[in-house]
Amino acid sequence: MLGALESKDPVRRSSAEYRRFVRKHYDGLPGALTAITGFLTGHEALAGKLISRYGFDVRGCKSILDAGCGNGRYSRFLLREADASARVTGFDYSRQMLRRARHRIHDPRVTQVAADLTRLPYGDQSFDAIVCGWVLEHLADPRPGLNELARVLRSGGKLLLMATEDTLLGAICSRMWHCRTYNRACLKTIAGECGLDCRRDLWFSKFHSRFHLGGIIAEFGRM
Ligand SMILES: C[S@@+](CC[C@H](N)C(=O)[O-])C[C@H]1O[C@@H](n2cnc3c(N)ncnc32)[C@H](O)[C@@H]1O
Repeated sequence: MLGALESKDPVRRSSAEYRRFVRKHYDGLPGALTAITGFLTGHEALAGKLISRYGFDVRGCKSILDAGCGNGRYSRFLLREADASARVTGFDYSRQMLRRARHRIHDPRVTQVAADLTRLPYGDQSFDAIVCGWVLEHLADPRPGLNELARVLRSGGKLLLMATEDTLLGAICSRMWHCRTYNRACLKTIAGECGLDCRRDLWFSKFHSRFHLGGIIAEFGRM
């Protein structure tokens, strides 16, 4: 039933048309507002709690990827937690989101580039850790994106994957952001088929865990 509520944009349009549509969406006002909405909804602060030694721990990781970095929300916390010698690479296919991220982050350890999750310009096993937050829901089929994440993740490396869940709140979010949602178990199964092994579920807080809120947040390793 919730499936009927969910946005149909990812499946209604051809993949090329949908890609252009999403890029334009984030290039425009909705993308510009992500900094404000992140602050108002508390996502900004919660992201900071998640990227920490008590959550997704990037200490000891030398090369970190922020996949679909948007306005740089997660890159900022990755830089805060990572070793002084670590490098953080952020990519996004919205040029305006990259511009917003550059405006926000001034740190010589970070590089931001335009790239598509389904065709990454990096060699195999390039990264010790990857964060991919709320991007996968913009793919009608997650496999091309997950295959690329698995390919560029070093064996023994870790991936923090966050995606909109098939709950009522998730369906409402999917309408706002013109994206799809995922069933938690199905996403883990598909990730497994792509060579990514789910190690544990993570939650923004005990409150989110108790009431099953905040979406799918899970740590994966490379098989
Ligand atoms: C909801 S925002 C999340 C941004 C950031 N990860 C965060 O959590 O704050 C989704 C971002 O994914 C980007 N995006 C969507 N599909 C993408 C793709 N196939 N390749 C690269 N970036 C993509 C959008 O441009 C947008 O900046």
